Amino acid sequence: MVRIKSKEKIRAIEKSGGIIAEIFQGLQNQIRPSTTTLKLERWIGDFIRKKGARSAFKGYRGYPAEACISVNEEVVHGIPSTRELREGDIVSIDVGVQLDGFYADAAITFPVGKISAEKERLIEVTRKALYEGMKQVRIGNRVGDVSSAIQRYVEHHGYSVVRTLFGHGVGEALHEDPVVPNFGRVGQGEKLQEGMVLAIEPMVNQGEAEVKVLPNKWTVITADGSLSAHFEHSVALVDGGLKVLTNWEGADG
Ligand code: MF3
Ligand code: CO
Repeated sequence: MVRIKSKEKIRAIEKSGGIIAEIFQGLQNQIRPSTTTLKLERWIGDFIRKKGARSAFKGYRGYPAEACISVNEEVVHGIPSTRELREGDIVSIDVGVQLDGFYADAAITFPVGKISAEKERLIEVTRKALYEGMKQVRIGNRVGDVSSAIQRYVEHHGYSVVRTLFGHGVGEALHEDPVVPNFGRVGQGEKLQEGMVLAIEPMVNQGEAEVKVLPNKWTVITADGSLSAHFEHSVALVDGGLKVLTNWEGADG
């Protein structure tokens, strides 16, 4: 069941989202060759605590860390470790924050130092695919309009969308209805309604769509070992239009 939120609740979710936006701004200076994903995790955890908030991920179905940090062929749910980042890597950082019972969720793929043109392109197409999906968030549209806009944009650029992981409703829990796939058909699925809050999150593989899960039971990697990128915003449908609640950049894409 979709939980429609009042404007007041949406403002509360936006507070959590604002903390995530600040984290992503601060992370720009933390991400550099030879730092470890564990150092990034600690920086994020400290930031969340300083704000009086909590990680929405730690303990969720037993997830062991405060952020998900996924490098290169890792798609999502990378567990922070002593692994060092290297010049030319790409690193996807996914952060969920809970403040006063309200949840927001967002992700960005960052370059580590100077990266290849091929990696730049994957990152840029994934970021723009998110904005293509967000543009469909309006009264009269359905979830399938968001999904198909993402899929079309990604496939047009020769990449594939992961089909076993989805975006989702968010706000009073980390995961709420409806499910927001990154593939689908125009005019299908749940109607978008005033007061809906969605986490839209394309996961885009350079190669094939198939993924597998590492023996740690969490980390999802591409089955063919190709690179993967991930961008996510939590957004609301307010006054008939889109409101970005995790504003890690100007919301124009
Ligand atoms: N943004 C991811 C999601 O929506 C993060 C979940 S990771 C977990 O599923 F650690 F919380 F499980
Ligand atoms: Co999410």
